[in-house]
Amino acid sequence: MSNNNVYIETYGCQMNLADTEVVLGILKSNGYSVTDDIRNADVVLLNTCSVRDNAEQRIYGRLGNLKRLKENNPGMVLGILGCMAERLRTDLIEEKKIVDLVVGPDEYRRLPEFIDTVYSGEKGIGVKLSKTETYDDIVPFREDGLTAWISVMRGCDKFCTFCVVPFTRGRERSRSTDSIIDEIQVLSQRGFREITLLGQNVNSYNDGINDFADLLAASAKVDRSLRIRFTTSHPQDLSDKLLYTIAENPNLCNYIHLPVQSGSNKILESMNRTYTIEHYLNLIEKARKIIPGVSFSTDIIAGFPTETFEDHLATIDVMQKVKYDGAYMFKYSPREGTKAFKMKDDVSEEDKSKRLSEIIDLQRIISYELNQKLIGTEEIVLVEGPSKKSDKFFAGRTDSNKIVIFPAEEIIASGDYIKVLLNKATSATLFGDYQSTVMKRNEKLPLTA
Ligand code: 5AD
Ligand code: SF4
Repeated sequence: MSNNNVYIETYGCQMNLADTEVVLGILKSNGYSVTDDIRNADVVLLNTCSVRDNAEQRIYGRLGNLKRLKENNPGMVLGILGCMAERLRTDLIEEKKIVDLVVGPDEYRRLPEFIDTVYSGEKGIGVKLSKTETYDDIVPFREDGLTAWISVMRGCDKFCTFCVVPFTRGRERSRSTDSIIDEIQVLSQRGFREITLLGQNVNSYNDGINDFADLLAASAKVDRSLRIRFTTSHPQDLSDKLLYTIAENPNLCNYIHLPVQSGSNKILESMNRTYTIEHYLNLIEKARKIIPGVSFSTDIIAGFPTETFEDHLATIDVMQKVKYDGAYMFKYSPREGTKAFKMKDDVSEEDKSKRLSEIIDLQRIISYELNQKLIGTEEIVLVEGPSKKSDKFFAGRTDSNKIVIFPAEEIIASGDYIKVLLNKATSATLFGDYQSTVMKRNEKLPLTA
């Protein structure tokens, strides 16, 4: 078969990275090969994100570049996948005429068919959302490595008023625990050391038999030397059962990404987050009791409609109370089709920027202080490989997802679990020295451990 080299660029969240692997799995089993050189590609795909306007603008910018590539290679198929597909298909196909293919997150199975439609001279369009598609039986295409992600559920039913995800990715549905466990088994045999279970709202995972805590417990048992992470958790659905499951299983990482979005009850209500800040803080306190040493990260939005300076101070107050290990912080970006889009975007750009930078500065100080406290302690680190800046150093991650840099030594290899004595810290990185090896790459813990 000719015309079969496919190149794909991925934007946005980890769900999209996982979807890209599903797409490549589908295309490969239909005779396509994957290339990482766009100049060799017959099919160029952008897997897109709509969550904030700047993500979409970046992708539009990229389409501008690709226009030239396509002019030189008119036979090339150019396609848009992911969240922008449904939202912008008319604009993409009719206005930006260079796009041949627009395929939304629930229609990837039909991608080979849509590409054939393009080869027969028409546009390939598939943007229907599904109540049932989970790609349960698709084997995602993954290069060998240490860390992998598995999407365990798709869509979101929460309808936070600022968020396009329920519209772009549709209703919640869960994959079967059996197929997820099979996938983890294969990854464990291939030598992976860390798996992240993904969903827009993983805590509402339910395959009709198991809830998310059951899934985590089953995942943890596959291979005790495999770290299991998960994201994203919604504060309304984080159950006690889940917290105890994390506490009982040493290879379930003691790290919870728990977006708060705002510290003000008035704003939380208007965001339809369905919890109060009191509930949220109680949850954090309870989690800390049940899982000693658990760390938290969060998402925060600055400048949601009607946010006053007092509301902003309430967010600052929550950050000071919780002391997050990390945070993803954004300016509110109005998204067409959401409830909040109908509200007046009444916080000025200047105030949004000011509030966001205050939030970012505070988080930097908090992360710095938390990291300073770790100096002098020993951490178990999964060695990921040479550090980005110098191959005289190695980089790895702690259970709580912090990056650690340490001098390379003969005895250390990627995939090993080692003990590192920490001797320095910035807000983003820990530094230390190798102490001892806990487990080599090819070693596994017995299942009873
Ligand atoms: N504006 C700003 N941030 C947003 N997020 C989602 N929608 C918007 C929006 N319209 C943020 C939320 C969410 C994260 C994935 O992106 O904080 O948790
Ligand atoms: Fe969006 Fe809220 Fe669902 Fe997260 S929980 S994907 S922010 S609607």
